[in-house]
Amino acid sequence: MKKSILLTLSITLTLISGFTFSEEQVVGLDRGIGGVESLRGDTELETTRPADPMKKVPRDQVDIESSYVFQPPLIPHHIRHYEVSLNANKCLSCHSWTKAKQMGATKISVTHFINRNDEVLADVSPRRYFCLQCHVTQADAKPLVGNSFERVKSLQ
Ligand code: HEC
Ligand code: HEC
Repeated sequence: MKKSILLTLSITLTLISGFTFSEEQVVGLDRGIGGVESLRGDTELETTRPADPMKKVPRDQVDIESSYVFQPPLIPHHIRHYEVSLNANKCLSCHSWTKAKQMGATKISVTHFINRNDEVLADVSPRRYFCLQCHVTQADAKPLVGNSFERVKSLQ
């Protein structure tokens, strides 16, 4: 939409309601971002923003202590090219109960076999199939939003 139309519109609205738009908001509206700057920055919805650089996963992984009970442990190795899709789950080629011993990896825990009805399945539960939903690497990624979480007392 033309900036001039929006400006006229905002002035009309101001006159009727006493509600004012700042110049910045008008520009924001004009740019299709509704005057809102999000985590994506002020990129318009229809614009493809260049991807952020890949996070570096450090070679030396540390043993990071848990902050709460039942926290998914961090992944202590790289995961590049590890496919998790309809056809393949690379993670399970090392972490499944049949492969873990041979690969020297930790077995997925029993909780990973329980479905949402609390039934224990013979194979990984569908809700645990996409490992990276819960487990992440130890890349040095700064939090995107502020957070005042504190470790539970029993783990302090
Ligand atoms: C080539 C074998 C292999 C593959 C593939 C693999 N891992 Fe691992 N993983 C290991 C081994 C070995 C360990 C033991 C710790 C280490 O690396 O020193 C481990 C450790 C872990 C741990 C930590 C377990 C704990 O008790 O702290 C997590 C979580 C994990 N892997 C998740 C994943 C996920 C998610 C994927 C898929 C994206 C994956 N792994 C793919 C071999 C593998
Ligand atoms: C819905 C979240 C979720 C998903 C999805 C998930 N995990 Fe976990 N995982 C956890 C939690 C929480 C724990 C810690 C508590 C426990 O042992 O269940 C854990 C524990 C583990 C452990 C350590 C087990 C141990 O005995 O210390 C490994 C290894 C692991 N997961 C691998 C995987 C792999 C491989 C996948 C994909 C096939 C996967 N997880 C999918 C949440 C998840």
